[in-house]
Amino acid sequence: MTTSQTVFRLASRFDDVGFSDIVKLRNRVMELRAQGTSVYQFEGGEPFIETPDVIKQAAKRALDQNQTRYAPSSGIPELREAIAEKLRTRNHIPAEARDVLVVNGGMQGLFAAFQSVVNPGDEVLLFSPYWTPIKDLVAHSQGRSVMVPTREARETSFEQTLARYSTERTKAIYYNTPQNPSGVVFTPEETKAVAAFAQERDLIVIADEAYEDLVYDGEHCSIASIEGMFDRTITSFTFSKSFAMTGWRLGYAVAPEPWMTGLRKALLYSSNGVSTPTQWAGLAAMSIEVATLEQMKEQYRLRRGLLLAGLNDIGLPCAPPAGAFYALPDVTRISKDSREAAEVLLDRANVATVPGIVFGEEGEGHLRFSFSTSIETIEAGIDSLRRNL
Ligand SMILES: Cc1ncc(COP(=O)(O)O)c(C=O)c1O
Repeated sequence: MTTSQTVFRLASRFDDVGFSDIVKLRNRVMELRAQGTSVYQFEGGEPFIETPDVIKQAAKRALDQNQTRYAPSSGIPELREAIAEKLRTRNHIPAEARDVLVVNGGMQGLFAAFQSVVNPGDEVLLFSPYWTPIKDLVAHSQGRSVMVPTREARETSFEQTLARYSTERTKAIYYNTPQNPSGVVFTPEETKAVAAFAQERDLIVIADEAYEDLVYDGEHCSIASIEGMFDRTITSFTFSKSFAMTGWRLGYAVAPEPWMTGLRKALLYSSNGVSTPTQWAGLAAMSIEVATLEQMKEQYRLRRGLLLAGLNDIGLPCAPPAGAFYALPDVTRISKDSREAAEVLLDRANVATVPGIVFGEEGEGHLRFSFSTSIETIEAGIDSLRRNL
């Protein structure tokens, strides 16, 4: 029997799992807006473009045709085939449809990947600054995140740096390129160095290629395409960024056995697959020409240039991010404490950003600005910073 004195206790597996700081920040911005303050929003992580019409039409058609029943939990065969074809031709990953699992966004694919690879006490190497939720996904699989400074690896050697942070317990490397929040795009040589290290130490790679279509300088290289890597890599992709489909919750994970069995079980017992009309919409997205994706990328490139010029001009130095849609300027002239710097920007200039510290120690002293927004917002936000900082 429960009484008013009963203290309920959440299952301990959530003890070390945080709640995304970015979500907290988003709530604060929503509060400000509700009070009538106009906020220049650079804190987001979404495409500014609307979902292309062909995708929306395919979803409407699926509804009209009553494609509303359970689909096979791993995904409709047409979509898995189309994805496998794209993986072979564009990513050079030797995948068949059986190696593809359709999931509810990159987050679910990554969740399933860590659950499939990490045993309690295992260590996972994360290049830092890293995308915040990864630490929580590792914690939820009762593993331990070990930060590998990206800068150190790039400035010295990947092999030596990875070796320095590895122990007997190291099980996997999380490999995100293009990177959120830094915009770093690892070169094919760097990717080969990480692959060689994984092979030498018998590690699994969980690759996150959410921003594969947003590379401005250099080229995207999928680590699973490197000789000998397919068997030891789970790659997570998403429709969110490439096709402006964040709210649809659609992505795919790619891996051979034994990983696929774990991925499928994680999907089956969490959501039993992805909504059927959404999968038909995803099939239409797969038919969008690379040239169209390139055109969308040019719109991001334009915004990148504007934001970068503005930030450097007002004394917030920032190197051009090679990929994704974030700039990570040094804001130590405002405060070394990035949470404080973010407060200052919000309070004085109504400019919302994300404090770099939420992406790990290596992000401290920086703020993340997204340039996936309107040109007007970028211009007005920079103007407000210039006048109020
Ligand atoms: C690096 C990275 N990976 C994965 C995702 C997952 O996106 P989604 O769950 O919308 O597919 C995101 C989203 O912001 C991201 O930044």
